[in-house]
Amino acid sequence: MRVLVTGGAGFIGSHLVKRLLAAGDDVVVLDKLTYSGNTANLPLDSVEFLEGDIAVAADVERAARGCDAIVNFAAETHVDRSILGATDFGRTEFFGTQVLLEEVRRSGQRFVQVSTDEVYGDLEAGGFSTEEDPLRPSSPYSVAKAAGDLHIPAYVRTFGVNASITRGSNTYGPNQYPEKLIPLFVTNALDGEPLPVYGDGKQIRDWLYVEDHCSGIELVLREGKPGEAYNVGGGNEHENIEVIELILELTGADRSLLRHVEDRPGHDRRYALSTEKLQRVGWRPSRDFREGMRETVEWYRANRAWWEPIKSGEFRRYYERQYAQRLRASTSSPA
Ligand code: NAD
Ligand code: TYD
Repeated sequence: MRVLVTGGAGFIGSHLVKRLLAAGDDVVVLDKLTYSGNTANLPLDSVEFLEGDIAVAADVERAARGCDAIVNFAAETHVDRSILGATDFGRTEFFGTQVLLEEVRRSGQRFVQVSTDEVYGDLEAGGFSTEEDPLRPSSPYSVAKAAGDLHIPAYVRTFGVNASITRGSNTYGPNQYPEKLIPLFVTNALDGEPLPVYGDGKQIRDWLYVEDHCSGIELVLREGKPGEAYNVGGGNEHENIEVIELILELTGADRSLLRHVEDRPGHDRRYALSTEKLQRVGWRPSRDFREGMRETVEWYRANRAWWEPIKSGEFRRYYERQYAQRLRASTSSPA
């Protein structure tokens, strides 16, 4: 099969690209190379790489020519950045997904929309989100993702396209741009920089190793039903502070680096997914959380050449804007 992977130069997309190549598929990558897109994530001699935008129909048409399937990872992906300004999020997530579906409607490719558990919103009271739950997004990022998702059942119903959705939980592993909790804290810990914990640090996320996320997406690509959504969750619920303690242990960093800072506005307390539906199709996550974290820390330790240039560029300006004031007012225990 020839597969177009949009956003394939990013973290999760680049892992799916390698997985598809190993399975014998041909892969085309269309990526805008925003701040988080990085061709160093890709085996460029084995894929056809096109720089371009999913929100531009001519770019999509050119990339999709001759493809049997499209898997859409392209997105603005960081909640904190969406709070600083969300225009690009709506453009890529909502309008870009629509442009892709117009191509699918015309040319008939199989389509998988890679989405997130964050579209279900907060689960502070307990329980697990199922695919039937209403979408209650609460950050500008998750609103944009939910808006993109809404196209899929509408295009299936109206035009009969062959499209499904995956909703993954918080993903970690090698090659993740160092702005999200785990890669930011691992690289800061390795550099002896402060670890800025939002609020009390008792928020809960369900952590999923990137290879397990990709095996779920691949299964949905090959066997998912049109119009259906499939949750892909790690079954590893942890408070942030537990994850941070593990990072301190695995990096050997001093716990004085830990700083409690002003909370993220609108911060969702807990996400957790029911994955029974995908398990019925045969999927199981295989990576133990501690083992996955050990491998991830070792990857960042061994690959400074990958992340040091990133942390000195555009990232620096973002980091100052997001953290400088917070760190000046930080405390060593929750306020
Ligand atoms: P990432 O930020 O590492 O990668 C996003 C990629 O999309 C980048 O390569 C970027 O250049 C590209 N891109 C952005 N706008 C584009 C556009 N308009 N046209 C073409 N390319 C564009 O993000 P990631 O963590 O790999 O996330 C990939 C997908 O998985 C996203 O859709 C995200 O919502 C979803 N997801 C992520 C997580 C997670 O924990 N990281 C969890 C669940 C779902
Ligand atoms: P993040 O990795 O940004 O993923 P998401 O917000 O999409 O779940 O954040 C994971 C958790 O870590 C979330 O509860 C916010 C928290 N967090 C911090 O405490 N400090 C930080 O600097 C970052 C980036 C996140």
